[in-house]
Amino acid sequence: MAETIIGVMGGSGIYEIDGLENTRWEKITSPFGTVSDDILFGELDGVQMRFLPRHGRGHRISPTEVNYRANIDAMKRTGVTDIVSVSACGSLKEELPPGHFVLADDYIDRTFAREKSFFTTGCVAHVAFGEPVSKRLVDCLEDALKEIGIDYTRGGTYLAMEGPQFSTKAESNLYRSWGCSVIGMTNMPEAKLAREAEMGYATVAMVTDYDCWHEEHDDVTVEQVIKVLLENAEKGRSLVKAAVPKIAAAPLPCPSGCHNALEYALITAPDA
Ligand code: ADE
Repeated sequence: MAETIIGVMGGSGIYEIDGLENTRWEKITSPFGTVSDDILFGELDGVQMRFLPRHGRGHRISPTEVNYRANIDAMKRTGVTDIVSVSACGSLKEELPPGHFVLADDYIDRTFAREKSFFTTGCVAHVAFGEPVSKRLVDCLEDALKEIGIDYTRGGTYLAMEGPQFSTKAESNLYRSWGCSVIGMTNMPEAKLAREAEMGYATVAMVTDYDCWHEEHDDVTVEQVIKVLLENAEKGRSLVKAAVPKIAAAPLPCPSGCHNALEYALITAPDA
């Protein structure tokens, strides 16, 4: 396999990393439509990196309106092999307070108004997705979290909701009864599309709130999400900086099957 090129999808600011060199913003076009923003190319400790603010700089694009296919396709076109998603999330468990980081290891996709596959016309493929997160990436992210001393939990299910409204109490409690750990609006279908594009994918959930289920905490508001996000932005950047050399040095291929997902997935006859 070619060298590892790490893509980071996240909110604005995640790319303002000390030591990021040879930077340039480049417009990438995709046949799947409009990419959220230009992609920032750079190098960190000699490792090639790409950053894409998934809501666009200035947070202009709602979770439903993000063109996930165009974004993943654009990252792939720039050579990205592995994506680290850094996302603000609500907590569905008492023991995951605001400020805590969660390395998700599974997802439940409750989104319904998004294109979720590259294989929609003329060619059918069913990729394996029983192990949706790259173990290779999570191992490196966990090492990095330990090294820099951030409170984290490894494992947990990320519930992806459509939004843009936050959940009702009944929904929040339903997801808790399913055993979910965190809730957000973006990592699906991103993770599915990354698998179809044969890229590693991992979610770093930065907990910003207790959603609306917690009796002793106020219901989530944008004000609270932004406050905690700003407080934690530096932690997110430090994590990326510490994880990059580890990911670049980690053996390939990914044991979760990310990099060869299409090997047995295509079902359409070659001459159909
Ligand atoms: N992003 C941050 N907090 C959230 C929440 N409670 N629900 C959905 N997305 C979120």
